[in-house]
Amino acid sequence: MKTRVLQYRFGGYSSFVEFGSEALLERFVGNRAVVVWDENTTSLLASLHELPSVTLPPGERTKSLDTVSHLLERFLEEGLERDATVMAVGGGVVCDASALAASLYMRGARLVLIPTTLLAMVDAALGGKTGVNFSGYKNLAGTFYPAEQIIIIPETLETLPQREYLSGLAEVIKSAMLGDPALFEILAARVDAVLERDREVVEELILRSVAVKGRIVEQDFTERGGREWLNLGHTFAHALESVTGFEGWTHGEAVAWGIVQALRCGEAAGITDPGYAATATELLRQYGFRCEIDTISVDALIDAMQHDKKSRAGRVRYVLQRRPGETELRELNPELIRGVLNRNLS
Ligand SMILES: NC(=O)c1ccc[n+]([C@@H]2O[C@H](COP(=O)([O-])OP(=O)(O)OC[C@H]3O[C@@H](n4cnc5c(N)ncnc54)[C@H](O)[C@@H]3O)[C@@H](O)[C@H]2O)c1
Repeated sequence: MKTRVLQYRFGGYSSFVEFGSEALLERFVGNRAVVVWDENTTSLLASLHELPSVTLPPGERTKSLDTVSHLLERFLEEGLERDATVMAVGGGVVCDASALAASLYMRGARLVLIPTTLLAMVDAALGGKTGVNFSGYKNLAGTFYPAEQIIIIPETLETLPQREYLSGLAEVIKSAMLGDPALFEILAARVDAVLERDREVVEELILRSVAVKGRIVEQDFTERGGREWLNLGHTFAHALESVTGFEGWTHGEAVAWGIVQALRCGEAAGITDPGYAATATELLRQYGFRCEIDTISVDALIDAMQHDKKSRAGRVRYVLQRRPGETELRELNPELIRGVLNRNLS
């Protein structure tokens, strides 16, 4: 990939996003740094193998305060001082937990994120949200701490299982719906190339999705108005993940299902243009995402949504779209949601 650099201002922080090949990492060799990987990413990026490292078990369970505590101990053992660098190489799990540890270590160590899943490249690594799960709540404990550098090396995706790739693709589709009609067109016109991971197309998807997220977070770093749009489909997705015990659905699959429910609820509430809802749902279907579920308790889903940790004063605000790029937050009557979900059981 041709080297490119984007710069974002998130609150008082500056984040550089660099796109390129592994050669971008040469400058870190010999630096005072610790690399954090998981067991599936340690074999990537040989140029970092000389540096001290910590290998975490893969999977969502790793996002815990125990992991953060383990990382802080390892940073201390390695004698890291405050100006040393924490380099996270992995998916959203490694990035989120390492970033939280880096934000806490001596009140803030330098942080470089090298995302290796599509989801982390287009979403988790950018924007400064760090976090771990706590007491059954996803991302309950976290900080806002943007990485100084996010280094995107698309070749690292070569070993990524297709299902994980598709999980990231759901967030790419979300980005297109939120803020990039040309990206939506590419996704609709190049389904085979996207699924076969044509290199040029994948690079275009990553660049464009990063640009959408970067733009939104620059305008609202601490999520007081605007950044919530990035949660399109997520209130439904988190409820599904919680009701199914995080089994059987990747995060992206749940998000894709959640986007469809948000479109249908928006349509039922007279907000979402029906033609747009149909087009976006069809796109998700073309990528093989499940838009209906066969067995699920609608009551349990609605209950889980009422307890979404993002609710304000117990009131849940859903991210809905009128049409491409026109997004708003609305409260919805639980009976309207119940009707939509009941109609869409397959
Ligand atoms: N901070 C944010 O703004 C933000 C945004 C979105 C999601 N997230 C978080 O991101 C997490 C999900 O991230 P994810 O989907 O990347 O999951 P993940 O980190 O669990 O990675 C998915 C799987 O792919 C493996 N893997 C990673 N890179 C690989 C590669 N190149 N080759 C082979 N295997 C590889 C991992 O070991 C893991 O088994 C969730 O915890 C979510 O809350 C955070």
